[in-house]
Amino acid sequence: MNGQPHLLMCPPQYYGIEYEINPWMSRARQVDHDLAKQQWESLHRIVTERGARVSLQSPVQGLPDMVFTANAGLVYGDMVVLSRFRHPQRQGEHAENSRWFAQHGFTVFDLAPEMYFEGAGDALFCGETLFAGYRSRSDMTSHQKVAELVGQSVLAMELVDPSFYHLDTCFCPLAPGVAAYYPGAFDHYGQQVLKAGIETLIEVSRDEAQAFACNAVVVGQVVVTNVGCPRFHHTLRDHGFIPIATPLGEFVKAGGSAKCLTLRLDGEEAAAWRMDPQLKVVTTKPPRS
Ligand code: ARG
Repeated sequence: MNGQPHLLMCPPQYYGIEYEINPWMSRARQVDHDLAKQQWESLHRIVTERGARVSLQSPVQGLPDMVFTANAGLVYGDMVVLSRFRHPQRQGEHAENSRWFAQHGFTVFDLAPEMYFEGAGDALFCGETLFAGYRSRSDMTSHQKVAELVGQSVLAMELVDPSFYHLDTCFCPLAPGVAAYYPGAFDHYGQQVLKAGIETLIEVSRDEAQAFACNAVVVGQVVVTNVGCPRFHHTLRDHGFIPIATPLGEFVKAGGSAKCLTLRLDGEEAAAWRMDPQLKVVTTKPPRS
C-alpha cells in the first residue's frame, strides 16, 4: 500500500496572465480572479476530501505562474531536482522553490542554469520508468542528467504540437502499466515508445485533450480533471478509476489545469494507484507471465 498522497499547491493570489509563453496565453484574455480562487479552492477541497494531504507554498507577487507547482521540480524520495525554467518570466520561481524544498527537509539538486528542465510538468514516472518530454520547455540533455540523479531509466519523447508544450498536458500515468495520452502531441517514435513501454494506454481525443483531459491529478483511485472530457471519464470508469470533473477554465487561460496545480511531494513515482491484484484486473492485455 502507498502512504497518504502528499501534494504541494500554491494559492492563486497573484495569478494572472501577465505574459505570453505558450499558445493558450493571451494578455487580452484576462483571468477572473474571484472565479480562479473558487476553482482552485474546489480542486483543493476535492483532493483533500479524497485523502490527500496538501502543503502550501506562499505565492509571490510578480510570479503569476507559481500557482503551477508541478513545475517546481521533480520529487523522488526525499530528493528534489529543481526546475530550470526556459522563459525568463518564470526564472524568479527557482529561488522560491529552492528555499521551500530546503526548509521542508528535501535534499535539493540543482541543474546547471543552461539546462532547461520544468520538473513534473515534463518528467513523469509510470511504474519504474521516467517518461520525459522535451522541445518547447525541457531539454533532452537535462532529462538524462535527471535520470542519473534519481538512478532510474528515462525515455525521452519529443513534443511536436506547441499546444501540448509540457508532457503533463498530453500524457498521464494512472497506475503502473496504465496511462492516458493524446497521440497527436507525439511523433511516430514517441507514440511507439509509449505503446512499447505501457501495457494499457488510453487514447484521448484532440477535443478532450484540449480540455486538458490528460492533465489529471491522480489520488489513489480518484482521477480529477477539468470539465469537458466525458468520453475520457467513461473510459476511466471502465478501467476501475473514479473520475471527478471540476471546472478549471481560469487556469486553462494560462495553459494549465488540475495536474499542473499540484506537485506530488511523496514522489511522482508514488503518484500512481497501486492496484490490488485481488481486487480488480484493469489491464486490457493479458498479464505478463
Ligand atoms: N503558464 C504556465 C507556463 O506556460 C503554465 C504551466 C503549466 N504547467 C504544466 N505543468 N503544464 O509555463
